[in-house]
Amino acid sequence: MAILVTGGAGFIGANFVLDWLACTDEAVVNLDKLTYAGNLESLAPVVDDGRHRFVAGDICDAQLVGRLLETHRPRSIVHFAAESHVDRSIRGPGEFVRTNIEGTYTLLECARAYWSGLDTGAKDAFRFLHVSTDEVYGSLAPDAPPFAETHAYEPNSPYSASKAASDHLARAWHQTYGLPVLTTNCSNNYGPFQFPEKLIPLVIVNALAGKPLPVYGDGRQVRDWLYVGDHCAAIRTVLASGRIGETYNVGGWNEIANIDIVHTVCRLLDGLRPSSAGPYEQLIRFVADRPGHDRRYAIDARKIERELGWRPAETFDSGIAKTLRWYLDHGDWVGHVQSGAYREWMARHYDGAGSAP
Ligand code: NAD
Ligand code: DAU
Repeated sequence: MAILVTGGAGFIGANFVLDWLACTDEAVVNLDKLTYAGNLESLAPVVDDGRHRFVAGDICDAQLVGRLLETHRPRSIVHFAAESHVDRSIRGPGEFVRTNIEGTYTLLECARAYWSGLDTGAKDAFRFLHVSTDEVYGSLAPDAPPFAETHAYEPNSPYSASKAASDHLARAWHQTYGLPVLTTNCSNNYGPFQFPEKLIPLVIVNALAGKPLPVYGDGRQVRDWLYVGDHCAAIRTVLASGRIGETYNVGGWNEIANIDIVHTVCRLLDGLRPSSAGPYEQLIRFVADRPGHDRRYAIDARKIERELGWRPAETFDSGIAKTLRWYLDHGDWVGHVQSGAYREWMARHYDGAGSAP
């Protein structure tokens, strides 16, 4: 038996593949285009594992996807592949529309053709798990209840709009064609192997390099933080026992303002790797806000707990401690991802003082 994972060289996908191979005996076919965000180094621990088959390719390539399905006959597809960074979507939305919408459409169509040809037992067992985000729900007022699965879709960025479109396609392929789709909408992840363009790894990497720590606007925007290992466990749980056609919100019950995240990381680094230049907080710079910046996300994760028994295992304190340890121990991984493409993005998006998104 095998599963097909898309985007398994990215942050969450790589964590999922490693986790999957550690927790199960089942093989993984890993289809990833290796964009700037894809990194085979994150999969180094399974390079000699015969159960992991990596395929460099695009989810928009229907011929390739169809061939992989017919060759490997997976019992499920877990679909992570996406353009995932909001700031990049603001600067260049085209790639987000292509990969997130057209790519998901292509996968759904290939999955439908493959699934239709399966015998009854295999057809009943097949699942298409679409990994999505809480950003599709838009922004919450400070006192509003957290996002439940029934919350209206109100995406505000090109990224979240493209993810919302992909969620609608996945839903429609279930409703119309009966494809056994499951959807997860998760809050902000953090942990090992996250590309240092996202807030937490960016702050860690910049602080250690003595560079400015850019905080957008007033820094009071709130996100609901989930350790990536908990997200992987949630996906395994939904894949194993989620009800077909259902959506499950996944979150950490950890609402924290950005500025508090940055202060926490600085304080912990002061203890773990003190700088001769003084406390890391000195590097914080308030910079121009992200256009259309969502003020608050928070996930109501009661449905997945009630129906499937999943709850996050990590607190923010335990998760951030593991994350800092990992980045401190993996300077080589960080050094390698800071390629020309990374430097170009940093120079274009932040000026020398770390300002102006
Ligand atoms: P990421 O940007 O780190 O990784 C994305 C991966 O997809 C990369 O390996 C990239 O090479 C690959 N990819 C991109 N375009 C592709 C294409 N056309 N064909 C094949 N592969 C392609 O993203 P991530 O943070 O790991 O997010 C994974 C998924 O989880 C995404 O769907 C994202 O929307 C969702 N999600 C992320 C978070 C988060 O906090 N990071 C939270 C909730 C949901
Ligand atoms: O909520 C889930 C989403 O979380 C995922 O769907 C996205 O793929 C993922 O990138 C993440 O989106 P965010 O925009 O919330 O993550 P990011 O790390 O880019 O930013 C987190 C917060 O920190 C956000 O309010 C913007 C702010 N920020 C970000 C950067 C990069 C800063 O203040 N300064 C920065 O330099």
